Amino acid sequence: MMHFARLLAPAVVIATASPVWGQEVTVYCSILEEQCREGSALFEKMTGTKVTMVRKSTGEVYAQIRAEAANPKADVWWGGPGEAHLQAAGENLLTPYQSPRMAELYPWAQTYAKNAQFGTNGIYLGVLGIGYNTDVLKKRNLPEPKCWADLLDPRYRDEIQIADPSSSGTAYVFLATTVQRLGEEKGFEYLKAMHKNVNQYTKSGIAPIKALALGETAIGIGFMHDMLTQILDGAPMKTIAPCEGTGYETGSVSLIKGGRNPEAGKKFIDFTLSPDAQNINVKLKINSLPSNTQSTVSPDAPKFADIKLIDYDTAKYGQPAERTRLLGRFEKEVKTQPR
Ligand code: G6P
Repeated sequence: MMHFARLLAPAVVIATASPVWGQEVTVYCSILEEQCREGSALFEKMTGTKVTMVRKSTGEVYAQIRAEAANPKADVWWGGPGEAHLQAAGENLLTPYQSPRMAELYPWAQTYAKNAQFGTNGIYLGVLGIGYNTDVLKKRNLPEPKCWADLLDPRYRDEIQIADPSSSGTAYVFLATTVQRLGEEKGFEYLKAMHKNVNQYTKSGIAPIKALALGETAIGIGFMHDMLTQILDGAPMKTIAPCEGTGYETGSVSLIKGGRNPEAGKKFIDFTLSPDAQNINVKLKINSLPSNTQSTVSPDAPKFADIKLIDYDTAKYGQPAERTRLLGRFEKEVKTQPR
């Protein structure tokens, strides 16, 4: 009897073993907390691989991966605008990975990954816009802004909220958009002038939008799809694509170099590029545009074709020296200046 049981034992071990690529994966997640949670739970359910997930804003994750380079603690960086991912790739902090899902992606995502030599991959697009709380504007007898230029109106003093570009990928897209739209010198003049109207530079890109929904700020800058979520939930808000043209993000996913679970990390990246993961957005009323052609596009998603976009250059503003320089200049010449 004993002998027979021992013979069976290996088979039992194999049958109950976790996936061949590993039993766990650690993910730094820069999309919304609720997406991160749903995605982790779904991946665990689909694969049996345990996910340890930490949500932090894009610039914060970049800084953490850099600080941990000698002893990486995470395997995957999921979400957030591409510039910080490209900077990390440029600094050799990421491992290039070409997913078998590549052929399922829209041409923009394929081109983005190829140009990055697969150091990072595109999972969604999001358009930068202005949002405002219609009740607050009415109460304060303030006009509805239509253009970026309107945000310099002195009547908006203390009424505008935006995140800090060092910590937030959203705010970095705004900084890069402004510099591309106006040229660097005029761009910084604009940012300095707008600074007088800013009530707070928040850590995360979503914070000003939540504040808008609650009427804690009259005007906010952020991604239109995030503002739309609040509007669909009944907040007295509007979101507009500014009249001069606007920039956009290429939401990205990357494999962290030297992570303990590279095989599970790759499977997780395949998952983020799949309709299973990307359709979580529609479920949560998050209306960014997915990169997989088989994913569902929310009928409420901002229509790229109807929006005046600038020829936004993610690659240039994701160059390590460029991103570091612009953030340094913003810190010194704008953020730390008196209002
Ligand atoms: C939200 C948006 C994403 C964006 C992310 C950036 O999750 O839905 O489209 O990439 O914010 O967050 P951050 O805090 O870095 O600005």
